[in-house]
Amino acid sequence: MSPTEISSRSVPNVVSIAGVDPSGGAGVLADIKTFSALGAYGCGVIAALTAQNTRAVTGIHEVPPGFLALQLETLFVDVRIDAVKVGMLATSDLISVVADALRRHRPPFVVLDPVMVAKSGDRLLRPDAVQALIRELLPLANVVTPNLPEAGDLLGREVTEAPDDMQAAALDLHALGARAVLLKGGHGTGDRLTDLLYVDGRSVLISADRIPTANTHGTGCTFSSAIAALLPRRPTLEIAVRDAHAYVHAAIAAASQLRVGEGHGPLHHFHALWPTTPEAPLTETRLQP
Ligand SMILES: Nc1ncnc2c1ncn2[C@@H]1O[C@H](COP(=O)(O)OP(=O)(O)OP(=O)(O)O)[C@@H](O)[C@H]1O
Ligand SMILES: [Mg+2]
Repeated sequence: MSPTEISSRSVPNVVSIAGVDPSGGAGVLADIKTFSALGAYGCGVIAALTAQNTRAVTGIHEVPPGFLALQLETLFVDVRIDAVKVGMLATSDLISVVADALRRHRPPFVVLDPVMVAKSGDRLLRPDAVQALIRELLPLANVVTPNLPEAGDLLGREVTEAPDDMQAAALDLHALGARAVLLKGGHGTGDRLTDLLYVDGRSVLISADRIPTANTHGTGCTFSSAIAALLPRRPTLEIAVRDAHAYVHAAIAAASQLRVGEGHGPLHHFHALWPTTPEAPLTETRLQP
C-alpha cells in the first residue's frame, strides 16, 4: 500500500442517513459538523426535508423511497463507507429502503438513532413505522440510541429515569433484537444525567452534571454521529460511546458562544477547534488539516 493510500485509509468515511434541519442544529447538517469535528470525512444521504427552526418543525417533505434508494446505491458503489449513522426516517417505506441497502452493502458499523420526536415536541416518525423500525433496522445496528420517550415508544410502555427502569428497558430492547443499547437520560429531571450503555451482557452507566441551558437542539443527533465517527478508530463500542459523550458534553457547555434562534439553540460542534473570541485570528496550526 502506498503512503497516500495509508493516510487516506486512516480517515474514516462516515455517512449520515437522516433529515435536513435548515437551522443546522440537528439532522444531516449537524451530523456532518460532528463528523468533521471528530476527524471523519462526512457524507450525507437525505431521507426528508424539514421546515424547522430552533422553536418548531413546521413541515416535513419526505424523499420518495426510490430516490432514497438511488442515493444510497450511488454512494455505496463508489465510496468505501466505514460507518453509518441512521437518523430520522419518517415512514416504513423509507425504513425498508435503508434496511435493504445496509443488508446488501454491509458497512462495518451502524449506529441507529430512532428519532421519533423533535426537541420542540413535534412528531418525526409516523406511529405505524415504529414496528418497521424494530423489525427491519434494529437487528442491523451495532447500537441503538433511544432517549427515554423513544425507548417507551419502542417498548409500548413508559420508561422513566429510575435506574431499575432504565436497566429493564435496555434488556427488553436487547430482547427485541438490538445488539447493544445506549439509553440516553437527557430527559431526566435531576442535577446529574445518566445514560446507560448495555453491551456484551453488561450495563455501563455514564453520568455527567446537567448543564443548565436551553441550547440542547440536536444533542441526540450529535451523540449518535459522534459514536459513528469514532467507532472505526476506537477499540470498543464502550470507548467510542464514552469519548462521544465527552464531546457532546463539551459541545453543550460551549453552546452559549453561539447566537442561533430564540428556541432550543444548537450545540457548538467546533468548540475545540475555533478561537474562543471572534476577534482572535485562526492560527496557522488551526488551519492545518
Ligand atoms: N442539559 C444537559 N446537560 C448535560 N448533558 C445533557 C443535557 N441534555 C442532554 N444531555 C446529554 O446529551 C446526550 C443526548 O441525550 P438526549 O436524551 O438529550 O438525546 P435526545 O433526546 O435524542 O436529543 P434530541 O432531542 O436532540 O434528539 C446524552 O448524553 C444526555 O445525557
Ligand atoms: Mg433524539
